[in-house]
Amino acid sequence: MNFKDRRILVTGGAGFIGSEVTLQLIKLGANVTVLDNFSSGKRKYLPKSNKLRIVKGDIRKKELVRRIIKDHEGVIHLAALPFIPDSFFYPGEFFDVNTNGTVNMLWNAIKTKTVETFVHISTSEVYGSAQFVPMDENHPTTPHSTYAVSKLAGDRAVFTLHKENGFPAVVIRPFNSYGPRFTEPYIIPEIINQIIRGTKELTLGNIHSSRDFTFVEDTANSMIKALQEKKAVGEIINVGSGNEIQIKNLASKITKLSKRKIKIRYDESRERPYDVNRLICNNKKARKILKWKPKISMDKGLLFTYKWAKKNPIKFSAPFKRWYYKN
Ligand SMILES: NC(=O)c1ccc[n+]([C@@H]2O[C@H](COP(=O)([O-])OP(=O)(O)OC[C@H]3O[C@@H](n4cnc5c(N)ncnc54)[C@H](O)[C@@H]3O)[C@@H](O)[C@H]2O)c1
Repeated sequence: MNFKDRRILVTGGAGFIGSEVTLQLIKLGANVTVLDNFSSGKRKYLPKSNKLRIVKGDIRKKELVRRIIKDHEGVIHLAALPFIPDSFFYPGEFFDVNTNGTVNMLWNAIKTKTVETFVHISTSEVYGSAQFVPMDENHPTTPHSTYAVSKLAGDRAVFTLHKENGFPAVVIRPFNSYGPRFTEPYIIPEIINQIIRGTKELTLGNIHSSRDFTFVEDTANSMIKALQEKKAVGEIINVGSGNEIQIKNLASKITKLSKRKIKIRYDESRERPYDVNRLICNNKKARKILKWKPKISMDKGLLFTYKWAKKNPIKFSAPFKRWYYKN
């Protein structure tokens, strides 16, 4: 897809990954509509541009989605409740947004007749802990949280609706992403925030688990490529760097950026229950079909993120205090 003046809808476009997708699409010349309820996304993360239209609204609203999606040629669907610890407190809301919201988006896309490709953003969490590494798209799905189950149900709905209707859809499964404009206390923002607040001792749970981190510019780029590449239609594609790092090693890498002496302490009370202990991406399919590869090294990406966080301090609220679950 040549993006010049193409009309692309980005749900969750004010969020961490969505704002990067929006920026890149605008740079490519697309006209972008962001649909976001701003539960975690922020207006200030979006650029000022005459190529951008921002709609405040909920992906679960049938009439609104029907009206907004009309006339768009591509959809990148990122809007979701993404933070696993929140799903311990509000499992029902996760299914409502991540599963039902996804069905509402896709069903309305099918009805428009203008949408050429629908890219659904899933997650590596649907696989659960690695049973073999690196994890390809045939890895069994044994999700460990209601977040992951609600995302997997969304994926399967996208896949069946794609088959039943012959409608062009792609499922992208990103492994962990990091970078500036984060919105949730994911592990890297959590470590950076503790350091910025001046701690002499990082307190972390699950330090022995390992993850595969990709810089957000690379993650976002894979989603745009998925919209472009005809061969991606009907495919599930993993997106990740292919490199594994243990959380305690990640923490010491980040502490070095502060140039201060900081200890790392394991705190059992911060341990997530039933956590996934290992995720590493096999990105062969993304390389082949999307012609995608990660470009930013972890050292460069972490430095960039750390500098951004120092300039843009964010105070996160605890899951049970978050306003949007109360509405
Ligand atoms: N961050 C990661 O490492 C990661 C990894 C794998 C998959 N993902 C997936 O990528 C997507 C984006 O994640 P993120 O980390 O950028 O999270 P995020 O919270 O920053 O972005 C989600 C966006 O969706 C919006 N939103 C939430 N509920 C909505 C609703 N009902 N209607 C409209 N908008 C709504 C939020 O305001 C926010 O802007 C999610 O689908 C997530 O599951 C993220």
